Amino acid sequence: MSVLPAHLIEEIKALPARYPQPRSAVMPALDLAQEELGHLTSEAMTEVAAALQLDPGYVEGVASFYTLFHLEPIGQHHFYMCTNLSCSLRGSDDVVTRLRSAIGVREPGEISKDGLFSYEEVECMGACEYAPMCRIDHGYHYDLTPERIDEMVAELRAQSAAKAPVTTATKQSHG
Ligand code: FES
Repeated sequence: MSVLPAHLIEEIKALPARYPQPRSAVMPALDLAQEELGHLTSEAMTEVAAALQLDPGYVEGVASFYTLFHLEPIGQHHFYMCTNLSCSLRGSDDVVTRLRSAIGVREPGEISKDGLFSYEEVECMGACEYAPMCRIDHGYHYDLTPERIDEMVAELRAQSAAKAPVTTATKQSHG
């Protein structure tokens, strides 16, 4: 049985037609697969390779080369924290230290107990002007401070709680 849903396989099969070089479809295809599963399993990469008619080794090579692709599970919200020169000079160490404590992890790659968060440190993301900065959930956040990190984590927790299914106990307590 496939790990990727049939509609996604069809979407991936249609990608090469959009690029002058059909191989260019591998990045958006892996992005779709990761979005669906949270991280890229070897089964998922094999299915992407089959859908694009590419060698599975090539697809795995691309997936393991780019830091935006994850071969291991990550939190639902994964922070890419830039710690390169400009961000470092403008306080990224303090920002990362606060992030670790706000989400309750000790090191990059560790997933918070509630499964919501993880982080990694990455190289320059080309926004040095707004250092220190990070990427999370396809968005970029600039001029970070430890306080701003607290706010972001609280906002994401609140969003997640709002999406959580209502439990029987909660229903009863509200009549
Ligand atoms: S050093 Fe962080 S965005 Fe360039």
